[in-house]
Amino acid sequence: MPLSRRDWLKRGALAPAMLIPGVAQAYDVDEVERRLAKSSSVEGVSKLDLPTPSLILDLDAFEANVAGMAAHAKQHGLQLRPHSKTHKTPEIARRQLKAGAHGICAATIREAETMHAAGMAEILITGEQVGVNKIGRLIRLTKAAPETMSTVDNAEHAEQLSEAARAAKVTLNVMVDIDPVGRRTGIAPGKKAVALAKRIDQLEGLRLRGVHGYSGASSHVKGYEARKAHSIQYMTPVIESFEAMKKAGLPAEIMSGASTGTYNIDSDLAGMTELQVGSYVFMDVEYRRAGGRSGDTYTDFSPSLTVLATVMSKNYDDIATIDAGLKAFATDRSFGPEPLIEGVTYSFNGDEHGRLHLENASREVKLGDKVELIVPHCDPNVNLYDRMYACRGDQVREIWKIAARGHV
Ligand SMILES: Cc1ncc(COP(=O)(O)O)c(C=O)c1O
Repeated sequence: MPLSRRDWLKRGALAPAMLIPGVAQAYDVDEVERRLAKSSSVEGVSKLDLPTPSLILDLDAFEANVAGMAAHAKQHGLQLRPHSKTHKTPEIARRQLKAGAHGICAATIREAETMHAAGMAEILITGEQVGVNKIGRLIRLTKAAPETMSTVDNAEHAEQLSEAARAAKVTLNVMVDIDPVGRRTGIAPGKKAVALAKRIDQLEGLRLRGVHGYSGASSHVKGYEARKAHSIQYMTPVIESFEAMKKAGLPAEIMSGASTGTYNIDSDLAGMTELQVGSYVFMDVEYRRAGGRSGDTYTDFSPSLTVLATVMSKNYDDIATIDAGLKAFATDRSFGPEPLIEGVTYSFNGDEHGRLHLENASREVKLGDKVELIVPHCDPNVNLYDRMYACRGDQVREIWKIAARGHV
């Protein structure tokens, strides 16, 4: 069950304690980590003690999201292979696997190497690994983790992989990458895709595993019904290609795709075998605005990831300035973060500054207040931070290293 709006808005109500000087300890990042290393817990460290801006994970919301998606996949008889590009954090991948995922996705070879170094074995790299450097590293990773899979959308690339695999005496697991609509990577569905699958099947050193089809263009289509129509339109030819491969006697067994926006649409498409969802663990402003079955706001999963900031200047009635600006949030969207205070909005106000608009604030905002803000777009937002603080209520429970951070 996702958390109620009231539950997660409560997290924005941290402010009053901060007004009492001396209540909070003045830890810097290194001190919090030293404390953790020494006592193997951060007992007694509150969110209010943390330096700002910091990335905060609300464990209650996060755990509900992880469990919710795992239950959905199980109920639909689908494998779950969450995308680690969202969180880049081994501890989160570990928890997703523990909750029932059978593997993970990685967007890049570096992400895959990082996740493997942290103990993960069943990794699908969802981007083509082209060129001597990446193919060499894919081979090295496959030697260490033989179930590693990667994508191919071109016969010439398949031949290069085959040549390298034969030379290294290793078998590379390959998925045909089919482009539903995005014109980013992927071969066209239909005859071309089936022909590529046949070519892969003939090539020594390659093992055809199935189809990768990610309709990113469907994921944020506004409104559930419009999104459903979009995803069905573009995913159907992809899945038909997968079925045609099987009919042709090719060893295609995996049909992998879907996003947080389409998980409950693509799950009903006959032929789908696994979900490679990512953002559901955190949610963000962008997904919330996409709308869902329940209405204009997408509420299947709850926002678990926020940036904690401090009100650093309060000289006007209608605005306050916080210490989280362009460097604290992803800036790839036309909107910024959403403060967890009812009625308050945010606008960027420089590299290190953000503006809170208080005209309709549901409560007073004072100098020194701590404010949490839902991130605009979770994937690039996580990539800005070295660590996230996993909190239960106001208490910091663990610090998780964003180990693949920056590993683009
Ligand atoms: C190839 C691929 N698969 C799956 C996902 C997960 O999508 P979402 O984070 O919207 O769930 C992404 C996200 O960008 C992706 O690029």
